[in-house]
Amino acid sequence: MNIKINPKFLFPTQYWEVELKESIKELQNESYIIKKNDQEGVIKSNTGLNGYHSKDIRNFENIPKINKLMFEIANCVNSIHQVSRRGKLNLANFWINISGKGASNSPHVHSGNNYSGVFFIKIPKEMSGGRFLFYRNFNDAALNSMAYMGQFKDGYKMQSYDYPIITIPPKENMLLVFPSWVPHAVETNLSDEDRISLSFNFILNRSLP
Ligand SMILES: [Fe+2]
Repeated sequence: MNIKINPKFLFPTQYWEVELKESIKELQNESYIIKKNDQEGVIKSNTGLNGYHSKDIRNFENIPKINKLMFEIANCVNSIHQVSRRGKLNLANFWINISGKGASNSPHVHSGNNYSGVFFIKIPKEMSGGRFLFYRNFNDAALNSMAYMGQFKDGYKMQSYDYPIITIPPKENMLLVFPSWVPHAVETNLSDEDRISLSFNFILNRSLP
Protein backbone atom coordinates (compact mmCIF):
# COMPACT_ATOMS: atom_id res chain seq x y z
CA MET A 1 0.00 0.00 0.00
CA ASN A 2 1.60 3.31 -0.96
CA ILE A 3 -0.62 5.70 0.96
CA LYS A 4 0.63 7.09 4.26
CA ILE A 5 -1.43 6.43 7.38
CA ASN A 6 -0.62 8.80 10.26
CA PRO A 7 -1.44 7.56 13.76
CA LYS A 8 -2.45 10.44 16.05
CA PHE A 9 -3.54 10.70 19.69
CA LEU A 10 -6.75 11.98 21.23
CA PHE A 11 -7.04 13.68 24.62
CA PRO A 12 -4.17 12.56 26.82
CA THR A 13 -5.18 12.81 30.50
CA GLN A 14 -2.78 13.89 33.21
CA TYR A 15 -2.64 12.43 36.67
CA TRP A 16 -0.01 13.07 39.29
CA GLU A 17 2.02 10.84 41.59
CA VAL A 18 3.67 12.41 44.63
CA GLU A 19 5.81 10.71 47.24
CA LEU A 20 5.14 12.24 50.65
CA LYS A 21 7.18 11.72 53.82
CA GLU A 22 4.44 11.37 56.42
CA SER A 23 4.62 9.36 59.66
CA ILE A 24 2.85 6.37 58.23
CA LYS A 25 2.52 4.36 61.46
CA GLU A 26 0.80 7.25 63.23
CA LEU A 27 -1.52 7.73 60.26
CA GLN A 28 -2.41 4.04 60.51
CA ASN A 29 -3.22 4.41 64.22
CA GLU A 30 -5.32 7.50 63.57
CA SER A 31 -7.25 5.65 60.83
CA TYR A 32 -8.32 3.06 63.37
CA ILE A 33 -9.31 5.86 65.79
CA ILE A 34 -11.61 7.21 63.05
CA LYS A 35 -13.12 3.77 62.55
CA LYS A 36 -13.59 3.30 66.28
CA ASN A 37 -15.46 6.61 66.56
CA ASP A 38 -17.59 6.06 63.42
CA GLN A 39 -18.06 2.32 63.28
CA GLU A 40 -20.97 2.18 60.87
CA GLY A 41 -19.34 4.44 58.24
CA VAL A 42 -21.14 4.66 54.89
CA ILE A 43 -21.66 2.47 51.85
CA LYS A 44 -20.33 4.07 48.65
CA SER A 45 -18.16 2.29 46.08
CA ASN A 46 -16.90 -0.10 48.77
CA THR A 47 -18.00 -3.66 48.26
CA GLY A 48 -17.29 -6.84 50.20
CA LEU A 49 -18.05 -7.54 53.84
CA ASN A 50 -14.72 -6.21 55.09
CA GLY A 51 -14.84 -2.87 53.30
CA TYR A 52 -15.04 0.08 55.71
CA HIS A 53 -15.67 3.59 54.31
CA SER A 54 -15.80 6.34 56.94
CA LYS A 55 -18.23 9.23 56.80
CA ASP A 56 -16.71 12.52 55.63
CA ILE A 57 -14.22 13.55 58.29
CA ARG A 58 -15.06 16.98 59.74
CA ASN A 59 -13.56 16.77 63.22
CA PHE A 60 -9.76 16.80 63.58
CA GLU A 61 -9.76 16.01 67.29
CA ASN A 62 -7.32 13.18 68.11
CA ILE A 63 -6.04 12.94 64.53
CA PRO A 64 -3.20 15.51 64.36
CA LYS A 65 -1.19 13.57 61.74
CA ILE A 66 -4.17 13.31 59.44
CA ASN A 67 -4.74 17.04 59.94
CA LYS A 68 -1.13 17.72 58.89
CA LEU A 69 -1.46 15.32 55.95
CA MET A 70 -4.48 17.24 54.66
CA PHE A 71 -2.48 20.49 54.68
CA GLU A 72 0.27 18.77 52.67
CA ILE A 73 -2.26 17.38 50.21
CA ALA A 74 -3.95 20.79 49.84
CA ASN A 75 -0.55 22.33 49.01
CA CYS A 76 0.18 19.60 46.44
CA VAL A 77 -3.20 19.85 44.73
CA ASN A 78 -2.98 23.65 44.58
CA SER A 79 0.54 23.42 43.11
CA ILE A 80 -0.70 20.97 40.48
CA HIS A 81 -3.62 23.21 39.53
CA GLN A 82 -1.55 26.38 39.46
CA VAL A 83 0.93 25.01 36.93
CA SER A 84 -1.59 25.90 34.25
CA ARG A 85 -4.54 27.70 35.81
CA ARG A 86 -5.46 30.54 38.10
CA GLY A 87 -7.40 30.19 41.31
CA LYS A 88 -7.35 28.36 44.59
CA LEU A 89 -8.79 24.97 45.39
CA ASN A 90 -10.62 24.23 48.60
CA LEU A 91 -10.87 20.84 50.24
CA ALA A 92 -14.47 19.68 49.68
CA ASN A 93 -14.40 16.47 51.70
CA PHE A 94 -12.22 13.53 52.65
CA TRP A 95 -12.66 10.11 54.17
CA ILE A 96 -10.76 6.90 54.81
CA ASN A 97 -11.21 3.38 53.49
CA ILE A 98 -10.07 0.37 55.50
CA SER A 99 -10.33 -2.61 53.17
CA GLY A 100 -9.96 -6.02 54.77
CA LYS A 101 -9.66 -9.26 52.86
CA GLY A 102 -12.30 -9.45 50.12
CA ALA A 103 -13.02 -5.71 49.99
CA SER A 104 -12.85 -3.68 46.79
CA ASN A 105 -14.17 -0.44 45.28
CA SER A 106 -16.21 -0.66 42.10
CA PRO A 107 -15.64 1.83 39.21
CA HIS A 108 -16.92 5.33 39.93
CA VAL A 109 -16.21 9.03 39.42
CA HIS A 110 -16.32 11.93 41.88
CA SER A 111 -18.80 14.16 40.06
CA GLY A 112 -19.09 17.81 41.02
CA ASN A 113 -15.44 18.21 42.03
CA ASN A 114 -12.33 19.39 40.20
CA TYR A 115 -9.55 17.21 41.57
CA SER A 116 -9.75 13.98 43.51
CA GLY A 117 -7.14 11.63 44.80
CA VAL A 118 -5.99 9.01 47.18
CA PHE A 119 -3.15 8.68 49.68
CA PHE A 120 -2.02 5.20 50.69
CA ILE A 121 -1.69 4.82 54.46
CA LYS A 122 -1.25 1.06 54.73
CA ILE A 123 -0.43 -1.50 52.07
CA PRO A 124 -0.13 -5.16 53.10
CA LYS A 125 3.45 -6.49 53.02
CA GLU A 126 2.41 -9.35 50.78
CA MET A 127 -0.02 -7.33 48.68
CA SER A 128 -2.24 -9.48 46.52
CA GLY A 129 -4.89 -7.58 44.56
CA GLY A 130 -5.70 -4.11 45.92
CA ARG A 131 -4.22 -2.27 42.95
CA PHE A 132 -5.62 1.12 41.96
CA LEU A 133 -7.24 1.13 38.50
CA PHE A 134 -7.92 4.03 36.14
CA TYR A 135 -10.41 3.53 33.31
CA ARG A 136 -10.33 5.56 30.11
CA ASN A 137 -14.12 5.73 30.37
CA PHE A 138 -16.87 3.53 31.70
CA ASN A 139 -17.52 1.82 28.36
CA ASP A 140 -13.94 1.44 27.30
CA ALA A 141 -13.17 -1.73 29.23
CA ALA A 142 -15.89 -3.53 27.26
CA LEU A 143 -15.48 -1.70 23.94
CA ASN A 144 -11.72 -2.20 23.95
CA SER A 145 -11.86 -5.84 25.00
CA MET A 146 -10.44 -8.59 22.80
CA ALA A 147 -13.91 -10.14 22.63
CA TYR A 148 -15.19 -6.95 21.00
CA MET A 149 -12.16 -5.72 19.06
CA GLY A 150 -10.47 -8.98 18.15
CA GLN A 151 -7.30 -10.66 19.37
CA PHE A 152 -3.91 -8.97 19.06
CA LYS A 153 -1.65 -10.34 16.36
CA ASP A 154 1.10 -12.77 17.31
CA GLY A 155 4.27 -10.83 18.01
CA TYR A 156 2.51 -7.43 18.29
CA LYS A 157 4.06 -5.40 21.09
CA MET A 158 1.22 -3.93 23.20
CA GLN A 159 1.37 -0.16 23.65
CA SER A 160 -0.02 1.90 26.53
CA TYR A 161 -2.99 2.97 24.39
CA ASP A 162 -3.97 -0.66 23.76
CA TYR A 163 -4.93 -1.14 27.41
CA PRO A 164 -8.40 -0.02 28.58
CA ILE A 165 -7.23 0.16 32.20
CA ILE A 166 -4.11 1.69 33.77
CA THR A 167 -3.01 -0.26 36.83
CA ILE A 168 -1.18 1.48 39.68
CA PRO A 169 0.46 -0.68 42.36
CA PRO A 170 -0.07 1.31 45.59
CA LYS A 171 2.78 2.17 47.96
CA GLU A 172 2.63 3.60 51.46
CA ASN A 173 3.16 7.39 51.41
CA MET A 174 2.21 7.62 47.74
CA LEU A 175 -0.29 10.32 46.77
CA LEU A 176 -2.27 10.05 43.52
CA VAL A 177 -4.15 13.10 42.23
CA PHE A 178 -6.41 13.00 39.18
CA PRO A 179 -9.24 14.96 37.53
CA SER A 180 -12.47 14.08 39.34
CA TRP A 181 -14.19 12.86 36.15
CA VAL A 182 -11.70 10.01 35.58
CA PRO A 183 -13.33 6.63 36.37
CA HIS A 184 -11.36 4.56 38.87
CA ALA A 185 -11.70 1.50 41.06
CA VAL A 186 -9.76 -0.66 43.50
CA GLU A 187 -9.18 -4.36 43.00
CA THR A 188 -10.24 -6.80 45.70
CA ASN A 189 -7.77 -7.04 48.57
CA LEU A 190 -6.78 -10.70 48.56
CA SER A 191 -4.27 -10.45 51.38
CA ASP A 192 -5.02 -11.09 55.07
CA GLU A 193 -3.91 -7.61 56.15
CA ASP A 194 -5.92 -4.38 55.95
CA ARG A 195 -5.28 -1.92 53.16
CA ILE A 196 -5.90 1.68 54.29
CA SER A 197 -6.28 4.71 52.06
CA LEU A 198 -7.49 8.28 52.44
CA SER A 199 -9.50 9.81 49.59
CA PHE A 200 -10.43 13.43 48.97
CA ASN A 201 -12.05 15.97 46.67
CA PHE A 202 -11.05 19.55 45.93
CA ILE A 203 -13.21 22.24 44.33
CA LEU A 204 -12.11 25.49 42.70
CA ASN A 205 -13.06 28.52 44.74
CA ARG A 206 -15.05 30.30 42.04
CA SER A 207 -15.81 33.32 44.19
CA LEU A 208 -12.20 34.50 43.88
CA PRO A 209 -11.22 36.60 40.84
FE1 LIG B 1 -12.94 7.19 44.31
